[in-house]
Order: sequence, then structure tokens, then C-alpha cells
Amino acid sequence: MKAKLLKNIEEKNIIAGVIGLGYVGLPLAVEKAKAGFKTIGFDIQKSKVDLVNAGHNYIGDVVDSDLAELVKAGILSATNDFSFIKEVDFIAICVPTPLDEHQEPDIRFVRDSVTEAAKYLKPETMVVLESTTYPGTTEELIKPILEEGSGLICGQDFYLGFSPERVDPGNLVYKTKNTPKVVGACSPDGAEVISAMYRAVLEGEVFTVSSPSVAEMEKILENTYRNVNIGLINEIGRLCHKMGISVWEVIDAAKTKPYGFQPFYPGPGLGGHCIPLDPYYLTWKAREFGFHTTLIENSMIINDGQPEYCVDRAMHILNRYQKAIWGAKILMLGVSYKNDIDDYRESPAIRVMKELRKVGAEVDYYDPWVPEFKNMYGQSGKSIEVLSPEVVSSYDLVMITTAHHNVDYEMVERNAKVIFDTKNVMKEIQERDKIEVL
Ligand SMILES: NC(=O)c1ccc[n+]([C@@H]2O[C@H](COP(=O)([O-])OP(=O)(O)OC[C@H]3O[C@@H](n4cnc5c(N)ncnc54)[C@H](O)[C@@H]3O)[C@@H](O)[C@H]2O)c1
Repeated sequence: MKAKLLKNIEEKNIIAGVIGLGYVGLPLAVEKAKAGFKTIGFDIQKSKVDLVNAGHNYIGDVVDSDLAELVKAGILSATNDFSFIKEVDFIAICVPTPLDEHQEPDIRFVRDSVTEAAKYLKPETMVVLESTTYPGTTEELIKPILEEGSGLICGQDFYLGFSPERVDPGNLVYKTKNTPKVVGACSPDGAEVISAMYRAVLEGEVFTVSSPSVAEMEKILENTYRNVNIGLINEIGRLCHKMGISVWEVIDAAKTKPYGFQPFYPGPGLGGHCIPLDPYYLTWKAREFGFHTTLIENSMIINDGQPEYCVDRAMHILNRYQKAIWGAKILMLGVSYKNDIDDYRESPAIRVMKELRKVGAEVDYYDPWVPEFKNMYGQSGKSIEVLSPEVVSSYDLVMITTAHHNVDYEMVERNAKVIFDTKNVMKEIQERDKIEVL
């Protein structure tokens, strides 16, 4: 099986399948197709399948013309019929791994898609989970489902591994194609073959590790590292504010050290489908071993408290202008979770909005990337259409919650009554009387 698959990879005689055509899956499917592998994407959302088959892109990191040309050439297609698994030799699973209402891993999208895939799995297939998850998922959860559902044996009839996706939406330098990849598989042969498949598709280096658990843990480490460092800087930021020191100036000074320090910045909280959620997968798994991840949990407490902290600061700012937050008109600039993208999943700005409304503020938002939103927690909203001087001056407070580049901040400064900049995006503006920074 190993020799045959390696030869087929070299000859591009492999049909690739991608389950879940979202922020991770669609760019991956496009890269596989661009590398010359016939690729079939699967999604339970028919609307996404129809868009792909019509050659229409819906993910920021994918080049529209790439997708259209690959579909037209018949190299890339999409389906919502799971029996497509019978046709493919390589399967990448890129489904969501959210939390449930008790902040515990909600692994049902992985379980459901693997259960369906198992029914159609044919011998000599490579199966790789790319969704971020707790260490142990591939071997403890996926392997038995695939073996029982297909009657095949892992390592003997098919290869199984984990290779974390590292895509950073909106990153102009590192994309799916040139970001180094880590692969861990259930057997050495599996690791060799799956790594060869990624090498045939990507420009970034492919590092092979000894097991899926190592690869699963390293991905959680990457995201927990960010979570903890952001928690640290949010805490330092709160202290700096009390001491009358600018945390932003402190960070700029600290980062002049050429080694041993990496800058992280405070903000209204964590957002996106990764950094705020993934550490919970680890803390949940750790409890199985009687282990408490105290540092990580404390960081999550700090980060989870940032939206309320920002509301508290907004209250004090308004107080200085003899204005109660109850009934105050507040304009938020930005609801996506980071700058220059349209993704608002777990966005801290939306939590700030909720907390502001709880204390009686009247809140509107402007976001050129998110004309409207509706999230899984039942919150929704519509952006004001034009950010004019009249609009800006009609609010008691303008609060910047996302550092988008396509906003005229000078105009905002000239017209706002007062500004609370939680992202330090107005740092270049000289006239600072009306601006308070987080
Ligand atoms: N978005 C990122 O920046 C990013 C970065 C690195 C890793 N990840 C990880 O990658 C995984 C996917 O994230 P995403 O951002 O692409 O999510 P997404 O919501 O954008 O896409 C997931 C897709 O899977 C589909 N899906 C859900 N259940 C399915 C099922 N049973 N069968 C087939 N398709 C199904 C959904 O319809 C959706 O289109 C997550 O584990 C996430 O943590 C995301």
C-alpha cells in the first residue's frame, strides 16, 4: 500500500477529498487542485456546494479566479453526497470544533462526518483530521469509528493521521500554500505517505512527528501560547492604566530587545474560532488525567473579562463628560474579530455590544467588512451604511473595537465627541485630547 500510494502521489494519480468547505477546507481544496490533484469538496451546506460548483468564491483567502478556473477545468468540484468518499484516495477533514453551552468540546461535527465517511471508506485511502482538537482525538475517537464502520484495519488497509491547519485569515504573507505543516500518523508508513501528499501540494516545509497526539498537542500549544500571552498583556494593560502608564509605549520599548520577547497587544478580548476556544479542549482533556491547567485557566479568566472591562472604562470616560452610560449613544467601529476580515465568530466586539446594551447604552456599529451579522448565540445587527462626519458627531462616544484599515480615522477624530480606542489604531493621530486608549 505504501509503495503504491507514494507512486500515485508522485504521478498525481490521487483523487483528494476535503470534508468541510469553510475558512480552512476551501483554501486547502483549492491548493490540492492547483497542485494537479483532482479534488472533490464536501459540505453539508448545499449553498456552499452550489457556490463552488458555479465557480463562485466565498472565502477571503482564496483568489476568485483560481477557484473559477479550477472548477471550469473540471479539477475541482463539490458535493453534498457522502458517497463521494468511494472515489477519493485522500480525505482531509476540516469541520468545526466549537464548544457546547458548558464550554466543553463539542466534537459532534468530527464524529458525524467520520461516521458517514466510514460507511464508504475504501482500502488504500489516507484519512487526515485537520480540525483543531484535544490530544487523543485521532486515535481514541476517529480510528475506532473508521475501523468499525468500514471493516478495514488502520495501518494495514488505510492510513490515518492528524495534521493541524494553521491558516491565519487575512495574513498577506502566510497562506495555506506556504505555511509549514506538521503531520503525525498512527503508523510510520502512514506518516511517510501523508507527509508526501502534503509535500506534493504545499510549498511550506512538512515536519513529521511520531504520533497524532503530538501533532494535536502542538496545535493546542500554538493557540494556548497566544491565549496566555494575550492574557498576560491584558493584565499588564489593566495595571498600567491604574498606574497612569501607557501599555502601548511599554510594549514598543520592550520589543526593542532583539531576543526573548515577542510583542502581544491588549484588546477588547479574544475572538475567532481558535484562540478563545482551543485551550478549553486542553483543559477538558487534562481533567481526565487529574490535572489542572491553572495558568491557562487564569489567562482565560482575564481574557474573558476584557469586554466587561472595556464597558467599565467606557462608563468612566462618559462620566468625565458628565454623561451616564444609561441612554448614551455609542458607535462601535468594527465587529469582526480581527482587522480586515469579515469573520465575526466569537468576536469580542459583539460581547462588548451586548454588555453595553445591558447597562442601558444605545449602540450602533459601523464595519465595512460586516454589513450585517447573525451569530450562533442569537445576536444580530446591521452596520450603519456610511460613516459620515454627521453620523460620527451624533454619538456620545465612538468606541474602536476592530483595527480595520479602511476607516477614515482622521475624520473620526475631527468629528467625534470622545473616542475610546481599544486597539490603539489611532496612534498616528497627533491631536489626542478626545482619544482615550485601552
Ligand atoms: N478559521 C481559522 O482561522 C482556523 C485556523 C486554524 C484551524 N482552524 C480549525 O479548523 C477547523 C475548521 O474551521 P473553519 O474556520 O474552517 O470552520 P468553518 O465553519 O468555516 O467551516 C467548517 C465547514 O464544515 C461544514 N460542516 C459542518 N459539519 C459537517 C459535517 N458533518 N460534514 C461535512 N461538513 C460539515 C460546515 O458547513 C462548514 O462549511 C476547526 O477545527 C478550527 O478550529 C480554523
